Amino acid sequence: MKILVATDKPFAQVAVDGIRKEVETAGYTLALLEKYGEKAKLLEAVADADALIIRSDVIDAEVLDAAKQLKIVVRAGAGYDNVDLEAATAHGVCVMNTPGQNSNAVAELAFGLMVMAVRNLYNGTSGTELKGKKLGIHAYGNVGRNVARIAKGFGMEICAYDTFPAAVEAMKQDGIMPIEHVEDLYATCNIVSLHIPATPETKGSIGYDLVGRMPKGGVLINTARKEVIDEEGMLRLLGERTDLKYMTDIMPVRHTEFQSVATGRYFATPKKMGAQTAEANINAGIAAARQIVGFFRDGCERFRVNK
Ligand code: 3PG
Repeated sequence: MKILVATDKPFAQVAVDGIRKEVETAGYTLALLEKYGEKAKLLEAVADADALIIRSDVIDAEVLDAAKQLKIVVRAGAGYDNVDLEAATAHGVCVMNTPGQNSNAVAELAFGLMVMAVRNLYNGTSGTELKGKKLGIHAYGNVGRNVARIAKGFGMEICAYDTFPAAVEAMKQDGIMPIEHVEDLYATCNIVSLHIPATPETKGSIGYDLVGRMPKGGVLINTARKEVIDEEGMLRLLGERTDLKYMTDIMPVRHTEFQSVATGRYFATPKKMGAQTAEANINAGIAAARQIVGFFRDGCERFRVNK
């Protein structure tokens, strides 16, 4: 049984060692394909893999066609918009994620970006503090919940918006004010932190209208996905509203235009860094390996995300 870890953005070595231990203890073989760059290398490596552990690596019909022995793909992380679920189902491949395993890392980075924004990107001028500011958490899943926990330590006023009743229940449990209409989250918060998944419904949903409702000096933090942003609308807004700031962990397609339109008010990490910590890599990577072992040994399909 061959378990292939295919990560263009590699895990920390300590996480790879942990994954190897789980896989080899179960009597399976581990293969590693890191920083592969071209899809051709991935297509070649998956040919004899029974299971795949991936991150944001794109698993489409072509990859699934090439992976003749594949039975399971585990996305070591939360968002699985990089996997073609329908194609996986058609190929008889189970797809799972590892919810919650990297969420603290992403939440901490949201605060890294927040502090950077309110301190004017560390340009030496006088900024503001997070204490006493109103934070809006857009989607209250695992990351949103960690953001709320950390925001309490900063002394922020916190509210959140989510469409899922269970998430609204979690807000109430955590003492976070639920907002009924998403427009009100933007209209009333100094800082909004995005934690929505990229789905057909959310793609391009954050832009001119919604962010334009933010009060003077508003900051939008995106540690979710670049696809949820309407880049055209955001560029127009940042051009008109020179008080707004946009900080993102996912470089937009039109990065250079953002740089020139919002110089000093815009920052993008060169590579998605949210889950790039040893702890998150260990948690998500080892969870993925264990889920694969459980799948083969006991037929366990907990965390399956395709039909
Ligand atoms: C996730 O969805 O888990 C995060 O966006 C992290 O993605 P990454 O594993 O590609 O860094």
